[in-house]
Amino acid sequence: MRVLVTGGAGYIGSHTTLELLANGHHVVVVDYLSNSSAESLRRVAGLAERPVELVEANVGEAAALDAVFARFAPEAVIHFAGRKAVGESTRLPLLYYRENVAATITLLETMAVHDCRRIVFSSSATVYGSASEAPFAEDAPTAATNPYGRTKQMVEQILADAAAADPALSVAVLRYFNPIGAHESGLLGEDPKGVPNNLLSFVAQVAAGRRTGLQVFGNDYPTPDGTGLRDYVHVVDLAQGHLSALDRLGEGGGYRVWNLGSGRPASVLQVIEAYARAAGTRIPYRLVAARPGDVAASYADVTKAERELGWTAHRSLDQACADTARWQAGSPDGYAAG
Ligand code: UD1
Repeated sequence: MRVLVTGGAGYIGSHTTLELLANGHHVVVVDYLSNSSAESLRRVAGLAERPVELVEANVGEAAALDAVFARFAPEAVIHFAGRKAVGESTRLPLLYYRENVAATITLLETMAVHDCRRIVFSSSATVYGSASEAPFAEDAPTAATNPYGRTKQMVEQILADAAAADPALSVAVLRYFNPIGAHESGLLGEDPKGVPNNLLSFVAQVAAGRRTGLQVFGNDYPTPDGTGLRDYVHVVDLAQGHLSALDRLGEGGGYRVWNLGSGRPASVLQVIEAYARAAGTRIPYRLVAARPGDVAASYADVTKAERELGWTAHRSLDQACADTARWQAGSPDGYAAG
């Protein structure tokens, strides 16, 4: 299939692009590299031993997007492009609504003009908020608690409305839990700019001596060790989930939502221990107050994805830590060194 991947140079996008190429699909990536690097795609092409084209454009630029559709005629779109930092979204909400919501409308309009009727959308478990308790099934109520989460919730609603109005439109919304890990080659991984927002990226930099100490946010949650429980899912498992979703989209129009998680909760302390084992080093940390807005536990009910997609996350937390440590050791400055 010809697949247009927006945000394909990013963390999950690059791993998914590699899986697509490895499975014989043709890929064009649209990415304006605001938080990613073309080097990731050079490495993807090297690993796949196949070319991948990068169009440097913002998905919200209708003319640039139209030109890509006219030339490449994609049969499906996987839409990763978007901003994803919770704190930034509270400071710059309009940027988030423009780049996550308005740009998706431009993308859907362009798809309609070019008769492209399949889309996989990167949503987030953050849409569940604190409206109910883990494990979250797809029919749990949604209640995002910050502008970033609300952009995901709004795009889900837009996609549902668009699918209801056009029976030929085939939509897969994938709600990711906490993506971690790296490609087993050590050549692809997460390359956060500045101070990492997410736990494992921070832990990896502390273990490598790039940051002095880790703060553990909260130790009196109602969880076995008092620290927050999350559902960490290996990025290569996630990437493969997109191919399973693409297969399902071929079965006809409609709007569908699947959780992509491991279904196995791990605490902050368990993550620190697993990474210390994988990297063979000590990881100093301090227990501090809970981070505002955090929930005690967030993990997936994965039965729907198992049943309907035939997909499960089979890579372990230990493997994800080992792969991240390999990536960290081989590319200590991420993609910057080329
Ligand atoms: C965060 C985002 C969420 C996003 C998700 C995936 C917030 C409030 N939520 O979720 O919207 O969808 O990432 O990218 O930012 N932790 C520490 N010390 C740290 C960093 C994290 O103890 O330095 C703890 C957190 O309190 C949490 C766990 O580690 O219990 C995971 O944190 P994080 O990686 O930021 O992910 P989420 O909070 O699940």
